[in-house]
Amino acid sequence: QTDPNAPIGLFDSGVGGLSVYLHLAEQLPAERYVYYADTLHVPYGNRDSTDIERLTLRAVEWLYQQGCKLIVIACNSASAYALETARRCYPQLPIVGLVPALKPAVLASNTHRVAVLATKATLNGALLNKVIDAFALPNNIEVTKYFDPLLVPWVEAGMPEEDETARRLRQQLTVFAQSGIDQLVLGCTHYPFFKGFLLEEIARQQLSIQVVDSGQAIAERVKQLLLSNQLLASANINSDGNSHINGDCNDDGEHDNNAHRAIATNHQILPNIR
Ligand code: SIN
Repeated sequence: QTDPNAPIGLFDSGVGGLSVYLHLAEQLPAERYVYYADTLHVPYGNRDSTDIERLTLRAVEWLYQQGCKLIVIACNSASAYALETARRCYPQLPIVGLVPALKPAVLASNTHRVAVLATKATLNGALLNKVIDAFALPNNIEVTKYFDPLLVPWVEAGMPEEDETARRLRQQLTVFAQSGIDQLVLGCTHYPFFKGFLLEEIARQQLSIQVVDSGQAIAERVKQLLLSNQLLASANINSDGNSHINGDCNDDGEHDNNAHRAIATNHQILPNIR
């Protein structure tokens, strides 16, 4: 019998999953959270599927060993290649994965053109392509896939404004608008950290583009799963009101204090995604 007061586990290659954590902490403040950031192997998006699956299963096993009652694979690339296997390996454990929020974008598009900004791994993965085939194409929506391998490292570095990556991103918004795209889906959990940056640029260039991400929907899904599995924490149990954010494990399975500090530093950018 799973303890409802056990923590929720979150996993990402780096700080990206914290953008999901923020929504969870807002919707489920009485829960405790354990966060695993594989900062030793970030970015995942340029890795091959076997590598992503191996690293993801290792992280899920670590969270499972911490006694997590539910795990969120808060990384689109990891979900694309390891969600199904993880669910098979831990049949009793609710595991939530991420897929770019294409459906709301398809429903909201007036121009019938949508762009998905994600890693190469996510864009090539079956999860997203199934949604495109089942939902975008039947609705006559043209989906443009775009990736920039330096976006995740840029976020991990704290998104320096003067960086070449920032310039490319600004320019790409113009290109999207010129091709009639009115919905931009952020298909990587790192990207909501620059949602504010995108919205400012969209306003400055007076473009008609809406930016969509999955954070809120994932938090709602987690809440629903906890409720249906009778796993919601009782509010008074978490009397310290704290969540616990852990760092990386290195290859020896030891705690990596540098990774932990990296997360703590980057935590300062969290308010940007609101
Ligand atoms: C990455 O590590 O490349 C980003 C992970 C993601 O797809 O969310």
